Amino acid sequence: MSETASQQSIPVVAIDGPGGAGKGTISRLVAERLGWHLLDSGALYRLTALAAYKRDTSVEDADSLSRIAAELDVAFLVEDGAPRILLEGDDVTTALRSETVGNLASCVAALPPVRQALLQRQRDFRTWPGLVADGRDMGTVVFPDAPLKVFLTASAEERANRRYLQLQEAGENASLPSLLKEIQERDARDCQRSVAPLEPAGDAIELDTTNLTIPEVVDQLTAYLVQRGMMPKG
Ligand code: DC
Repeated sequence: MSETASQQSIPVVAIDGPGGAGKGTISRLVAERLGWHLLDSGALYRLTALAAYKRDTSVEDADSLSRIAAELDVAFLVEDGAPRILLEGDDVTTALRSETVGNLASCVAALPPVRQALLQRQRDFRTWPGLVADGRDMGTVVFPDAPLKVFLTASAEERANRRYLQLQEAGENASLPSLLKEIQERDARDCQRSVAPLEPAGDAIELDTTNLTIPEVVDQLTAYLVQRGMMPKG
């Protein structure tokens, strides 16, 4: 199903790239700066994985998983500036970020019927005044007409290190070598799957964030937006 002409007139910034490249934080900050809506598409795959886990559904049962994806009862809220995600009325914001859910989500995301079931749900986030969409296939599949597409990368070592620091800050135990191994395995799954593999859109700007701070990345994206006339200068 493609988007209607009126939906296509709503501006979208598509921010894609591998896990841990900083997309989540960067997308949220850019959406705040613009006053636009935010789509965390990874959360939809994580929610599908968590809902399946709760129902004891196998990650290989594509039919049941696509039904779960199509019927997800979710709410994306912002409370005191912090995002909160409810699944069937329960706050699952923290549970969604666990490594277990992340790994299950990567398996679930490799199934074409699940991706199809989530496609329209993602496009429904495209409402005025605009959308910042964070994911893996925002620029290639979900919003191929987005006027700005950015592909954020960082070395696997740097991404593992960022995740390690995040977990330490949250007071959780973590091992750097096992985080690096998981990131490399997830990258391989996300890049090698047959449907919507992780790859930059032909017209995406690639930005390596390995040696950049978060404010530097946000400033760079702001510069792209100004260049394209999507936001006023200054
Ligand atoms: O960005 P994240 O770590 O929350 O994503 C969780 C998983 O979902 C990850 O393995 C990649 C997958 N994903 C996807 O295939 N397509 C998207 N648009 C977003 C995430």
